[in-house]
Amino acid sequence: MTHSTTSASKVKPDVTHGDSSLESEQADHCYDGIRELDNPLPGWWTFLFWATIIFSPFYFLYFHAGPEDRTIYGQYETHKGEIMVIRFKDIGMLEGDRETLLKYMKEDEWLSVGKSVFQANCANCHGAKGEGIVGPNLTDSKWKNVSKIEDIAKVIEDGAANGAMPAWKKRLSHQNLIVLTAAYVASLTEHPVPGRQPEGNREIKSWE
Ligand code: HEC
Repeated sequence: MTHSTTSASKVKPDVTHGDSSLESEQADHCYDGIRELDNPLPGWWTFLFWATIIFSPFYFLYFHAGPEDRTIYGQYETHKGEIMVIRFKDIGMLEGDRETLLKYMKEDEWLSVGKSVFQANCANCHGAKGEGIVGPNLTDSKWKNVSKIEDIAKVIEDGAANGAMPAWKKRLSHQNLIVLTAAYVASLTEHPVPGRQPEGNREIKSWE
């Protein structure tokens, strides 16, 4: 590999490397003596470029502005809900009474249903571990609206503080979801998490 170096000012740079057929393909500008070949983008590339731009609004409208179950995530959620309702046949329609809540508080498999409802709907106000953000810490022993375990289900159902705590009766698709979420919330006090300072003046040490 040898490069001949000649005084740059006298020599017109030869981007064609001696190939005269490339002479005509040179772009007609020259900056600081540098010339370039005029290489248009291949037709297929330009076609794809415009095709993806034209495609994108349709894609967006179809998947992101249409019904939720068009995406695989939406379909997953829909199927999960359907399976849940089938599984609910095993336990029937739960009531948010004391016995039911104390029972399901100890059933890990069903508690995980309450946990997933909590993560999806409650964690943004009460924190992922229930430690409290704008809503109170649900892991401590102080309560504002609750004096016995069944009040938890009532608060979840009807809300509190004029909607600062929303009512979930109509938002959760199945009564059992409220009861299992209440059981999950009741179970949180077993593992207090530092977060929002305790609020409310009702102290509850145990739900039993
Ligand atoms: C928009 C924010 C927000 C969301 C979402 C929310 N909460 Fe609340 N929650 C609050 C606020 C604020 C309070 C306190 C109400 C008060 O001051 O009396 C509260 C209170 C509660 C209480 C009573 C606490 C006590 O000390 O009396 C429970 C139980 C509760 N929420 C559970 C839930 C559950 C379960 C969900 C999800 C299904 C949920 N919250 C979703 C804001 C929220």
